[in-house]
Amino acid sequence: MNWELLLWIVPAYVANSTATLSKFFPKRHPIDAGYVCPDGRRLLGNGKTWEGLLVGTALGTLVGWPVFAYFGLPYNAFLVAFGALLGDIVGSFAKRRIGLERGAEAPIIDQLDFMFGAFALGGPLPAEYSALLLLITPIIHRTANIIGYLIGVKNEPW
Ligand code: CTP
Ligand code: MG
Repeated sequence: MNWELLLWIVPAYVANSTATLSKFFPKRHPIDAGYVCPDGRRLLGNGKTWEGLLVGTALGTLVGWPVFAYFGLPYNAFLVAFGALLGDIVGSFAKRRIGLERGAEAPIIDQLDFMFGAFALGGPLPAEYSALLLLITPIIHRTANIIGYLIGVKNEPW
């Protein structure tokens, strides 16, 4: 096992967690622009904003790029970060379609949606590394969100 390869996930974690910084913008713009689907629910909801997408992608890239360069990882930090946030958007789309309001807890979707987006755009990562990251991410995600909740950047501890 080449443990350094696990650092592939850094841009995704940074992007996913710093998207919450959008709450410090004076005005936020939902990506779905308020669009309501035929099912009567929002396309994505107010939890997915352009500000979050921009800040998360920028910071994920900014942190991940030097890490990848230093460890010689043959991946593109921008694609991992951006892919993670696209996955998160797909997750919200799925949550709205099954009738969950913005911020409602959705086990598995909440913890892993961003991972699949990152794999899709920022991969390919060897299967055993992907599997290990999928296993440890829910634990890390839960811990990080509880911290985010306690310091006031997350509205819910999940
Ligand atoms: N966020 C954002 N833009 C994004 C992603 C996240 O502004 N593209 C911010 C929002 O303030 C969001 C917070 O990060 O509330 C936490 O993200 P997440 O838990 O993914 O969103 P939820 O509010 O839980 O909404 P959903 O039910 O759609 O997941
Ligand atoms: Mg959430």
